[in-house]
Amino acid sequence: MHHLTTISPLDTALIRKEFPVLHQEVNGHKLVYFDNAATTQKPKRVIQALTDYYNDYNANIHRGIHSLAEKATHAFEQTRDTVRSFINAQHVEEIVFVKGVTEAINLVATSYGLAFVEKGDEIIISQLEHHSNIVPWQWVCDKKKAKLVVIPLNDVGEIDMNKFKKLLSDRTKIVAVNHASNSLGTVNPVKEITQMAHSKGAVVLIDGAQAGAHLTIDVQDIGCDFYCLSAHKMYGPTGVGILYGRKSIMKKMPPYQGGGEMIREVTFKETTYNDLPYKFEAGTPNIADVIAFRQAMEFISELGRENIAAHERKLLLYASRKIGVLPLVTLIGRASEKVGVLSFVIENIHPFDIGQMLDARGIAVRTGHHCTQPLMAWLGINGTVRVSLAVYNTEAEVDALVESLKRIIKFLNSNHVN
Ligand SMILES: Cc1ncc(COP(=O)(O)O)c(C=O)c1O
Repeated sequence: MHHLTTISPLDTALIRKEFPVLHQEVNGHKLVYFDNAATTQKPKRVIQALTDYYNDYNANIHRGIHSLAEKATHAFEQTRDTVRSFINAQHVEEIVFVKGVTEAINLVATSYGLAFVEKGDEIIISQLEHHSNIVPWQWVCDKKKAKLVVIPLNDVGEIDMNKFKKLLSDRTKIVAVNHASNSLGTVNPVKEITQMAHSKGAVVLIDGAQAGAHLTIDVQDIGCDFYCLSAHKMYGPTGVGILYGRKSIMKKMPPYQGGGEMIREVTFKETTYNDLPYKFEAGTPNIADVIAFRQAMEFISELGRENIAAHERKLLLYASRKIGVLPLVTLIGRASEKVGVLSFVIENIHPFDIGQMLDARGIAVRTGHHCTQPLMAWLGINGTVRVSLAVYNTEAEVDALVESLKRIIKFLNSNHVN
């Protein structure tokens, strides 16, 4: 019943019909939604899957013997299988449902980090990381008297691979970097990073928050030990995330939370734990949203990830050219490989003011530090205006943004001069 094409270029008009929220006016203007790195909008099929579950077969999963419980369990586990193939994991037991990337990283830091990092060890992250991929490692380092080591960037906002090589040592226990940066859009060479880290015996975690909806992900090809995703940044519901973990490592890791589902047997004397992945899924999960997430992945696969990437690349180039030449604008982050994230600052105008004035014209962007304060400190700025693209965005929307930016620059500068 869906009529989405898998040929490139994608038919954005048809795709936009799938997203009810896009068809509205905000402050008297057509909504232009450019805040996709924060969260993407949801297609009808995702919303439908949520209401279908609550209308037709709401039940708790796994231990129920009645028909509704069986149906819900089947739908829930189908999503796990879809995730497995979506990221090309070898085993379905390697897919753990969590709340989002934040929880996935906290799980690995708490379970793996506290169990296997020792005094004097080092954990390497990069200057590009989101706070979610900084704070949990700081805690591990504090608790275990280990050291947090940060890979510097080059001038265009890419990880400096030569410096990374020099930072790696036999003390390196974990390397945790993002696949794509939410602030600059930089796509990191995660396969190479993984190979280099493995040559020193370190395990590798990839924060895939900004990759899930935009890049093809193949965890076997990357070779990483952990990979994290947030469904809500992939056209799926909030409250669902994925932790992929290599089976041989996850088997050795202690549970993250205790409770129902994660146990095999409980006595007051001792508790034994369930098999993977359930050992890491204590309590009733977010059943409806997990089930609906499957529809989001099917939506992406149906369009084709190469086609999505091509569409967003073209749009990013278009936006970069048009915005980059505006007076007083500086683009921040010029990596050679980027996802559809365009960060910029405008001389003499606070990013927050730009965001507010764009909102008055129906254009949603994000302003500020984007949960990457150490990156902003390194750049020597308080924040940026961030335009982040998705498959439903169009050149006409970029034109509307450029038009508004021109007005804002003109207006504020004339006021500034006066
Ligand atoms: C690169 C990156 N990592 C981690 C996160 C955290 O994701 P979540 O809030 O879904 O847990 C985000 C969210 O913006 C992100 O962009």
